[in-house]
Amino acid sequence: MAGQAQLAGRTVLVTGANRGIGLETARGLAARGASVIVACRDPGRADETVRRLRAEHPAGQHRAVPLALDDLGSVAACAQALRAELDGLDILVCNAGVFGIDHGHTAQGFEWHFGANCLGHFALTLDLLPLLARRPGARVVTVTSAMYRRGKLDFADLDWRRRPYSKWQAYADSKLGNLLLAEELQRRLDEAGIAVTSLLSHPGYAATNSAWGGRSMKPTLAETVMLALGNALMAQSPAMGAAPSLLAATDPMARGGDLYGPSRLGGMRGPPARADKKITPDPVTASRLWLVAEDLTGVRWPA
Ligand SMILES: NC(=O)c1ccc[n+]([C@@H]2O[C@H](COP(=O)([O-])OP(=O)(O)OC[C@H]3O[C@@H](n4cnc5c(N)ncnc54)[C@H](OP(=O)(O)O)[C@@H]3O)[C@@H](O)[C@H]2O)c1
Repeated sequence: MAGQAQLAGRTVLVTGANRGIGLETARGLAARGASVIVACRDPGRADETVRRLRAEHPAGQHRAVPLALDDLGSVAACAQALRAELDGLDILVCNAGVFGIDHGHTAQGFEWHFGANCLGHFALTLDLLPLLARRPGARVVTVTSAMYRRGKLDFADLDWRRRPYSKWQAYADSKLGNLLLAEELQRRLDEAGIAVTSLLSHPGYAATNSAWGGRSMKPTLAETVMLALGNALMAQSPAMGAAPSLLAATDPMARGGDLYGPSRLGGMRGPPARADKKITPDPVTASRLWLVAEDLTGVRWPA
């Protein structure tokens, strides 16, 4: 990893930067000299993070912007405010996520995991593309999960209105969606000759709020035992969970579409490295999902 001033003068945005892996990603980017925009749904927690970044890394111009990924109106307002304020954006880290929550729908009626994890970040990324395109070498880092391998997108019922709901399948599907949309983004960037790179990271298993069931998940007794055992025996720190995102954001050898993750214990722990994807590339499904996401969000390529 390059020196501490590697990102001096760069502006980065991290979604869900108020806790867990997002907070550690923001701290890691600020430690490398970047000015960090903390994009969160809870203004009080966002301000806390900004205060912490300013105290720890006073060289950067750290600030907060409100962003609720489960409401496309909030996503559009966030992007509009940033486009009015910034002359460019160097790194966008699409980190925020909900995990294993009960069945429910976002402001526009999308299933929570699909709506917030996939569609919210899809709309934000496209809305911020004009800012990213102004900074040569800009990157989008999308945080997925090893569970993308279990994803099985049901295009006939992406919002789980017709089939029995499974919170784990919905999460896995959203993380497969994140991966496919990030790959399709790279394909479109290449085709259009836009010098922005789309990369992926996954944290392995990190002991964060999510890993304890998050604020909206209601774990069963069996799940509570499973989570407690997993956290005690397997999980690494949130800072280690952030390391793949930090490497994706800064690795000079990164190539579009690369996935970064922990290098040990089957990708669950350890120092970050470029990781093999465990599924066969599927550009047809990626392109289909992209078009569906455009229709559902009303945000289209080119932004
Ligand atoms: N921890 C792991 O082992 C693990 C494994 C695989 C993948 N991941 C992925 O890593 C990323 C970070 O997760 P984490 O483990 O750090 O979880 P976390 O501690 O629960 O943090 C999640 C962050 O996302 C934010 N968020 C959730 N819904 C949002 C919404 N609708 N709008 C805006 N922000 C929202 C949360 O905000 P609030 O604080 O307001 O709730 C929080 O800042 C997620 O994408 C997750 O899927 C984590």
